Amino acid sequence: MMDPLVQRTLAAVWHPCTQMKHMEQAPPLAVAAGDGPWLIGTDGRRYLDLISSWWVNLFGHNEPRIKAAIKDQLDKIEHVLLAGCTHVPVVELSERLAALTGLGHAFYASDGASATEIALKMSAHYWRNVGRPQKNSFVSLANGYHGETVGALSVTDVALFKEQYAPLLRPSVSLPSPDFRLAEEDESATDYARRCAKALDEHLGRHADTTAALILEPLVQGAAGMAMYDPLYLELAREICDRHDVHLIADEIAVGFGRTGTMFACERAGITPDFMCLSKGITGGYLPLSCVLTRDNIYQAFYGDETARGFLHSHSYTGNPLACRAALAVLDIFAQDDVIAQNRAKAARCTELMAELAEHERVRHFRQLGMIWAFDVKDADVDFPLRFHRAALDRSMLLRPIGATVYFMPPYCIDETQMKRAVDACLQLLG
Ligand SMILES: Cc1ncc(COP(=O)(O)O)c(C=O)c1O
Repeated sequence: MMDPLVQRTLAAVWHPCTQMKHMEQAPPLAVAAGDGPWLIGTDGRRYLDLISSWWVNLFGHNEPRIKAAIKDQLDKIEHVLLAGCTHVPVVELSERLAALTGLGHAFYASDGASATEIALKMSAHYWRNVGRPQKNSFVSLANGYHGETVGALSVTDVALFKEQYAPLLRPSVSLPSPDFRLAEEDESATDYARRCAKALDEHLGRHADTTAALILEPLVQGAAGMAMYDPLYLELAREICDRHDVHLIADEIAVGFGRTGTMFACERAGITPDFMCLSKGITGGYLPLSCVLTRDNIYQAFYGDETARGFLHSHSYTGNPLACRAALAVLDIFAQDDVIAQNRAKAARCTELMAELAEHERVRHFRQLGMIWAFDVKDADVDFPLRFHRAALDRSMLLRPIGATVYFMPPYCIDETQMKRAVDACLQLLG
């Protein structure tokens, strides 16, 4: 018997990233509540959220401090437009993000794709404002993902998402990805990073005059299947972009807020991008919020008497006070709980727990960075992701393989016993 809520969702809701007909055979998990790393189904069963609800949840579901901040804000002001108005949470959040990143003048939206749109538009508009309007195209990396609105999809390189909408998109160039799985057998990750950087250098050597920016996901290309790469690539990309007068947009939407072991992934390479896009974990997974931070010289190029020189972009919920309060609570938790150091120790212990999995005969390219673990399954067929997802649910685990890649990207509050459970379930599923 189908859960009545599932029947109603099939009749009323259009689910994302889904062929709705498939849901008849693979009904969605009906969730009633959350508790730390657990989701509680309408059937009363508990499921370990090993993918942080699409990489947004940092400190678990039902986190008291984030909830308290939102409730407190609810008694003050739930929302006010940010055009012509301001409020304490948005100012405080902008100040704190600037102090953390060295970038300023936070521009807000509600989702990751909108942050990508903003960074692309700002970059092209900057070049227009400084008298170089022909610099209005973008380069990105093979297998990169920056969202699915029309502008963001233009710089995304995931065939399945892109092909149906190809006529709507702007041409953009995708350059070799430093994903170390693509290195030659006898090539080190750093040598491969150098080879990919050379391709970037050569491309910009020919096309810098018409290129506004390079957009990339620092250190981990999430949607590519948690593809990881050497920080050297970022260092080189920074230097190459500077040399060719091309902006570097760091899309930290998935990797920001401690996910790769430092607060922001760019820190690992010691670089500061021209634009940084943030979303997902920014509110700990409580409310939709995204943000683009930029360098002061870029901001200054928009500053002047003419309206048309200003950045002409808006969303109704820009800088929503409730979302900003959630984000401030997240930053407080990072400080109060010493999250980065705690995660480092926890990640090391969890990686040890995975030794058997890493050595499993069906596992290839076992990899880990910060609180992300991933591996590729050797003989995965096209049905593997759905089959594995369903079988994991039967074992009370929410996992969503990407192609042949199984990954864990759990809330930081997960403990070793819970991780061990997840690892044991995967070992059983791999046989
Ligand atoms: C790196 C990256 N950029 C952008 C996005 C798009 O964010 P949203 O789904 O909130 O539009 C995602 C989402 O997965 C992402 O991983």
